[in-house]
Amino acid sequence: KEIVMSGIRPTGFLHLGNYFGALRNFVRMQEEYNCFFMVADLHALTTLPDTKDLKTNITRVLAEHLACGLDPNKCALYCQSHVYETSELYLYLNMIAMVGVLEKTTTFKDKIRLQPGNINAGLLTYPVLQAADILLHRAKLVPVGKDQEQHLEMARDYVNRFNHRYGGEVFPEPFAFNYGSELIKVPSLDGAGKMSKSENQYATLYLSDPDDQIRKKVMKAKTDSGPTEPNTPKPDYIENIFLLMKLVSAPDVIKKFEEDYNACTIRYGDMKKQLAEDMVRFIAPIREKAEAIQQDTDYLKKVMIQGAEKARASAQATMQLTREAIGLNYY
Ligand code: TYM
Repeated sequence: KEIVMSGIRPTGFLHLGNYFGALRNFVRMQEEYNCFFMVADLHALTTLPDTKDLKTNITRVLAEHLACGLDPNKCALYCQSHVYETSELYLYLNMIAMVGVLEKTTTFKDKIRLQPGNINAGLLTYPVLQAADILLHRAKLVPVGKDQEQHLEMARDYVNRFNHRYGGEVFPEPFAFNYGSELIKVPSLDGAGKMSKSENQYATLYLSDPDDQIRKKVMKAKTDSGPTEPNTPKPDYIENIFLLMKLVSAPDVIKKFEEDYNACTIRYGDMKKQLAEDMVRFIAPIREKAEAIQQDTDYLKKVMIQGAEKARASAQATMQLTREAIGLNYY
């Protein structure tokens, strides 16, 4: 079976982008592949100097993974910080990662903008740590959203440099994956960019949002007074509402709004009401399940221990090969 690896940062609770870009694929992939999925708590440290919410976030995010359908008996579900081998591989990969390339990474440049007072070395080497997560299991498939494409490209570069410098074929090249081929970018509700935990909270739909909050956020999404000529292209923010609808609404409902748009009879208020109700119908059961699982701390502890055991067994085998390839085996 092909090996799959991916992770999500516990910098907050999960949102719709995390679900459609990543989790939805995880749930399907666990049936077909040898899967390693983790909560990336070490990555979260690059942006969270204050760690007092970390435990709550980890617990909730794990519960959300389970609520969405991940089965700890079908995949390894673990916390990144429990797999100590990650830090060792991260160190080795740092020796082949070029600073010039790291400085040009899009996510690094974004972070400089978001937290100018805390541009730590961990932020710079974030893609190196991510590559370590993936290479640790010698994974080939990495289910992620579109924003992670560049990090995967860097991981492939490290694989090639490692194999070239130290010989051997310890690591295969990993590739971003999505069922349906194109990687996904879930747009934010304000018409500007992607849904994300760090940018506009009111433009992001969380899997933990109460029904009223979902309705309020959707109704606030940016629209205008509607098209004035038939069959005109849609402005980005309207296109985004259609995109969000495609994730949760029935095809015939979407078709009707498309026709109304093209005939200039569309009422955005009605469209948003429909989207809000469909979002509530999608999110509410996940939220309720996650809330219940989150209370069961004994169960979550068991999941974490079981996941860490599986992940460490795989990591230890890889590290053995890695040390040998580098030449760190002296006796
Ligand atoms: P993170 O925590 O930012 O996001 C987790 C996953 O959600 C996807 N995602 C989106 N997909 C579509 N539309 C959006 N608006 C959207 N927002 C987020 C992300 O693409 C990602 O798949 N660096 C990673 C975490 C990580 C990781 C790894 C991933 C650490 N180690 C190893 C893969 C393999 C990150 O920050 O994801």
